[in-house]
Amino acid sequence: MKNPYIINTHSHANMLKETNIDSAIKNAQESNIITIVPSSTAQDIFEVDKFIQKYDNVYGYVGVFPEEAKTFTDKTLNDMESIIRKNSKIIGIGEIGLDYYWDKSFKELQKEVFIKQIEFANQMNLPLNIHSRDAHFDTLEILKKYNKNSTAILHCFSGSLKFAKECIKEGIYIALGGVVTFKNAIKAKEVAAEIPLEYLLLETDDPYLAPVPFRGKENQPMYVKYVAECIANIRDCSTEEIAAATTQNAERIFNFNAK
Ligand code: NI
Repeated sequence: MKNPYIINTHSHANMLKETNIDSAIKNAQESNIITIVPSSTAQDIFEVDKFIQKYDNVYGYVGVFPEEAKTFTDKTLNDMESIIRKNSKIIGIGEIGLDYYWDKSFKELQKEVFIKQIEFANQMNLPLNIHSRDAHFDTLEILKKYNKNSTAILHCFSGSLKFAKECIKEGIYIALGGVVTFKNAIKAKEVAAEIPLEYLLLETDDPYLAPVPFRGKENQPMYVKYVAECIANIRDCSTEEIAAATTQNAERIFNFNAK
């Protein structure tokens, strides 16, 4: 049987170290997986642009990661805009957001850069791929206040079921990755079990957070199928059903059928 078609909505396939990148992408392609790769700094938006041109089944986001907010300059949005205008495989803005886990010293700058990129995504009419760590309240407040028309995805969702429901009420999508397969990931499993399938997306966030049975090893795009399998077990349905529902959601968000 053919593997179900899956869209991996967040993978740093360009950052794989122990795994050969070309073969990882080829393996994903053979498993019928489309991968979307975000940028992190104001500089590597150019690298992501180049990287995704090399592979049929790879798309990209451009954006500046919260921890890299200091790399964001007046020129960054112009650079992003020119890349988007020339490269139709850039299908969203990411990864952007807030991270108060490592360094709280430039919270205000993180917020400012996050808001500027939300407003930019609104202008370009592109979806948002959002990183939020230890910053759930501020992330949601900013989205409610500033996001007018872009579909928002919370990548590597780490909140509670209650928070997931609050987000869904605002039309925000929940992306789950390898963490949901971890034995002790009670919150993620609860979210996977309870949220409506219409708001679920799949991802790997490779090279980090490899799902069971590869936990602790280097992650890669094709392992997204273990995430789908795990969620199917939790929800007591088939992997095909999870793949079909999440793919349909991603196709709607990224307007894939038009590409
Ligand atoms: Ni990431």
